[in-house]
Amino acid sequence: MATNNSWNLFQSRMKILLLFILTFSGLSVLSTNFFRKYHYVNIPKTWAEAQAYCRDVYADLATIDSQAGNNRLLGGIQDPGKQAWIGLFDDAVWWKWTLGDVYFNINENFSNWKPGEPNNEDSNQSCVVMQFDGLWRDENCDTDRPSVCFNEQGPPKYYLMKTFMTWGNSLDYCRSNYTDLARVLTMSEVNEIYPPLGRNHWIGLHRNLWSNWSDQSPVTFTNWNNSKPDNQDKTMTSCAALNTTTGTWYDHDCDKKHEFICQTLIPPRSRIKMKFQSEADLSDPDIQQQILEQLHAKLKTNGITDFTLRWIDADGQTFRKEQSKKKG
Ligand SMILES: *[C@@H]1O[C@H](CO)[C@@H](O)[C@H](O)[C@H]1NC(C)=O
Ligand SMILES: *[C@@H]1O[C@H](CO)[C@@H](O)[C@H](O)[C@H]1NC(C)=O
Ligand SMILES: *[C@@H]1O[C@H](CO)[C@@H](O)[C@H](O)[C@H]1NC(C)=O
Ligand SMILES: *[C@@H]1O[C@H](CO)[C@@H](O)[C@H](O)[C@H]1NC(C)=O
Ligand SMILES: *[C@@H]1O[C@H](CO)[C@@H](O)[C@H](O)[C@H]1NC(C)=O
Ligand SMILES: *[C@@H]1O[C@H](CO)[C@@H](O)[C@H](O)[C@H]1NC(C)=O
Repeated sequence: MATNNSWNLFQSRMKILLLFILTFSGLSVLSTNFFRKYHYVNIPKTWAEAQAYCRDVYADLATIDSQAGNNRLLGGIQDPGKQAWIGLFDDAVWWKWTLGDVYFNINENFSNWKPGEPNNEDSNQSCVVMQFDGLWRDENCDTDRPSVCFNEQGPPKYYLMKTFMTWGNSLDYCRSNYTDLARVLTMSEVNEIYPPLGRNHWIGLHRNLWSNWSDQSPVTFTNWNNSKPDNQDKTMTSCAALNTTTGTWYDHDCDKKHEFICQTLIPPRSRIKMKFQSEADLSDPDIQQQILEQLHAKLKTNGITDFTLRWIDADGQTFRKEQSKKKG
């Protein structure tokens, strides 16, 4: 409970009139601004097993979005000298055609990969070339190659570009002067393109490397060890493990067994400010009570049961009525 002093201050100041109907729009802050608590799990599992375990027992495998977060996670580890899975993975299945941003299912959609491709050699091959024989291969997007553009009006029409460009520049070129880099959805389209190629050309298929955390949040921070990821395990899919001594990350075959780090998501404390505006006298205990009750109900519907509420005045000086924790 608040001290009498602060309570009196509250009463004297609050002749005012706030209470704008409680819209609680501020609550959306809670769902996007969670604080992560990390849990080191001392049981070796494959990445997929670790993910399932974390999702079952906690919220998910660890997502790390800053150096501070990485350090904080490291600080909680009593068992250094190991590698532990975190929630970052490179899912080689996630290819898409640039045109229309169409997702590509490597098992279901038409493809014409050369045997053994895509192999993501050196872990940086995320763009596709069509070879002179019509077969596809993944390659480093920064390689300079000619390309095949595509126009959509009427039946698809392909244009061979002779200029050597990176995949990204080819994409810009085709989008600016045609419709897009070539999208190739059938074998007859392959047959239409490749006979005159003579060499490897970029087409509009690519994938994002290391673009997904297990909880689907975007990758905004990485902490790879020097020269990682390097796909040393030569696998299609790779998962990130953190060296529990240095905090740096390594890519590994997802089927290796490592200990791992889970996370739970905790809403930040005292992060939400709400303004109340009202004709009513907010020093009226009944009104205060009403506000608190509504706030409580709303927080509980949002699954939040452990919180404190405080009043803060306009000049930033805090005078408060503290609502003690209530279990929902
Ligand atoms: C972690 O990093 C330390 C320091 O570089 C190194 O000695 C150790 O071998 C690494 N551990 C693993 C499991 O790679
Ligand atoms: C890929 O396959 C899925 C499922 O069969 C289908 O819905 C989708 O349209 C296909 N995409 C392309 C680009 O053909
Ligand atoms: C991709 O890997 C190759 C071989 O390790 C390297 O030479 C090249 O610089 C890498 N490219 C990028 C963009 O990381
Ligand atoms: C479109 O084509 C013109 C003429 O070849 C070229 O100068 C221009 O750079 C192209 N646009 C882009 C974005 O590459
Ligand atoms: C990766 O993230 C993107 C965008 O968030 C999502 O659309 C895609 O389905 C994810 N891929 C996988 C394999 O989870
Ligand atoms: C990780 O990086 C450290 C220096 O940052 C280096 O000494 C070590 O050899 C690297 N380990 C690997 C496996 O690349």
